[in-house]
Amino acid sequence: MYYVNQNIKDVVRIFPPQNRYGYLRLDMNENPEGLPQQFVDEVLEEFTPEYLATYPEPDVFIQKYAAFVKVKPENICITNGSDAAIRYAFEVFAEKGSSVVTVTPSFEMYGVNCNMLGLVHKPVPYSSDFTISIDRIIEAIDDTTDIIVLLNPNNPIGPNFTLEEVTRVISKANQVGAVVIFDEAYHYFCKSSFLDLIEKYDNVLIFRTFSKLFSLAGCRLGMVISNTTIIEYLRKARPSFEVNALALKFGEKIIDHPEIFDALIKTAELGRSYLLNSLEKNHYEYYPQSGNFIFIKPHIDSNMLACRLMNNKILVKTYGNDLLKDYIRINTGSVKVMEQFMNALLEADR
Ligand SMILES: Cc1ncc(COP(=O)(O)O)c(C=O)c1O
Repeated sequence: MYYVNQNIKDVVRIFPPQNRYGYLRLDMNENPEGLPQQFVDEVLEEFTPEYLATYPEPDVFIQKYAAFVKVKPENICITNGSDAAIRYAFEVFAEKGSSVVTVTPSFEMYGVNCNMLGLVHKPVPYSSDFTISIDRIIEAIDDTTDIIVLLNPNNPIGPNFTLEEVTRVISKANQVGAVVIFDEAYHYFCKSSFLDLIEKYDNVLIFRTFSKLFSLAGCRLGMVISNTTIIEYLRKARPSFEVNALALKFGEKIIDHPEIFDALIKTAELGRSYLLNSLEKNHYEYYPQSGNFIFIKPHIDSNMLACRLMNNKILVKTYGNDLLKDYIRINTGSVKVMEQFMNALLEADR
């Protein structure tokens, strides 16, 4: 009988749903409408046979992105989405059997990667009022801990951590010889970042992605920003051609067009404020989170509502766990998208 890695054998995976094209997608924190068609067409014109036949060359994108976030190119390691960044960081900075401290609920792939790599996952739970104690996170960090992961802001729930709170976490991490990952997939929606901390501490990694505000989830473009030593280790851990040429070109072109970036932010803000007003007017209990997503407590069972909305071509997220089972989570979009959602909600939720 052939060998199978026992960790992989045992891991439980819930694979993402398929056949979502054609639906109003409010379930996975993507931009439901995507980038402007004209911009997409312009970028596609640059895909010559030569460009596609050549192995990807990431340097131009990395230089532009480094200037965009005001760091040096040597501070950046690009990956096939931040999903891949999680894997490489765990492979490089955690020894088998050591522990990884996260919060729960959080982005599922942190727990999944722990299980795949034989790491001990130590999730610190949020309370029923959607708050979490930083003291409990700090208490969970001990000599066995190699990595601490905080999302800034957390997905799916939670307010942002303060600088004082994360400084306490970093100094405890320093004491036990651990690195701290701040996953900033959603930071553009709340304008909070701990990027500056990569200069101050030698054990801080920032994860970013082009899947959310930048609307390129299909391209798979993520990055780690950190000091040059950490980045060098991560670059050694990656395959030779990690990010494909299509993703690099779209990434470059978005950075070349700051007006697109500004419009994406504006659209997100207007849509969100429209939705919050409508929920208020219609007396919904809701919890706006710092990212591009909001929890809404429906009048009927949340799964029944999700089914009804799906029959109306709208996808929303529901949860099985006790803390969130009574809610639907939706990501926000433009005012037009939020109007479509609100009309469907009022129709289905009775
Ligand atoms: C907090 C967080 N990190 C990372 C990811 C994955 O991003 P990517 O598409 O870059 O793999 C997600 C996706 O939903 C997320 O919510």
